[in-house]
Amino acid sequence: MQLLIDRILKDGSVKPGNILKVDSFLNHRIDITLYNEIGKEFARLFEGERINKILTIEASGIGIACIAAQYFDNSPVVFAKKAKSQNVDGGMYTSMVESFTYGRGYDILVSKKFIGAEDRVLLIDDFLANGSALYGLIDIVKQSGATLCGAGIVIEKGFQGGGDKIRAMGVNVQSLAIIEKMDEHGIVFRANGDK
Ligand code: G4P
Repeated sequence: MQLLIDRILKDGSVKPGNILKVDSFLNHRIDITLYNEIGKEFARLFEGERINKILTIEASGIGIACIAAQYFDNSPVVFAKKAKSQNVDGGMYTSMVESFTYGRGYDILVSKKFIGAEDRVLLIDDFLANGSALYGLIDIVKQSGATLCGAGIVIEKGFQGGGDKIRAMGVNVQSLAIIEKMDEHGIVFRANGDK
């Protein structure tokens, strides 16, 4: 998505540890005009999938999913909660996420009341790096018996490999910008259609 790539080049910065900082428009201060364009693009990419539920993970995924949902007939948005303790009752789907980015693991939880076999689910998140969070969400969709229609990602760090591994599992992962390489000299994006 050229609008997003241009914005990353203009306002993003690369930090030590392979971290792309985009907090001036994506995940701290939020540019709602850009979020709306992102939502429209997801709707275009997943047109015809009859999506009726969007699943994301706290925190940064929630805002993007809520704006995007308006372009999916106001489908309800469910977000997985991150839990540190094992204090989980039987009414929740749970999955373990090992985050390499943050160097720690956590459980994610979704109430069984809010996702079920009748659902056609789109996953949405802001970043896809090694893919741990997305694996966890896919696991929860599988447990629920719902149909996984795909995953819409705003920024994929292609060089970390998570996206390609999940595509190889047969999941339709659509990322609006895929970074192949980044360092203090600049950011190189994967060419469009080169997925
Ligand atoms: P992982 O397996 O390496 O942990 O990667 P994953 O794709 O699961 O992403 C883990 C978390 O790290 C995500 O945050 C993601 O947003 C964040 N992240 C990964 N790379 C970058 C980066 O280059 N820049 C920024 N800004 N964030 C990055 P999260 O668990 O969804 O938490 P939250 O930030 O939404 O609260």
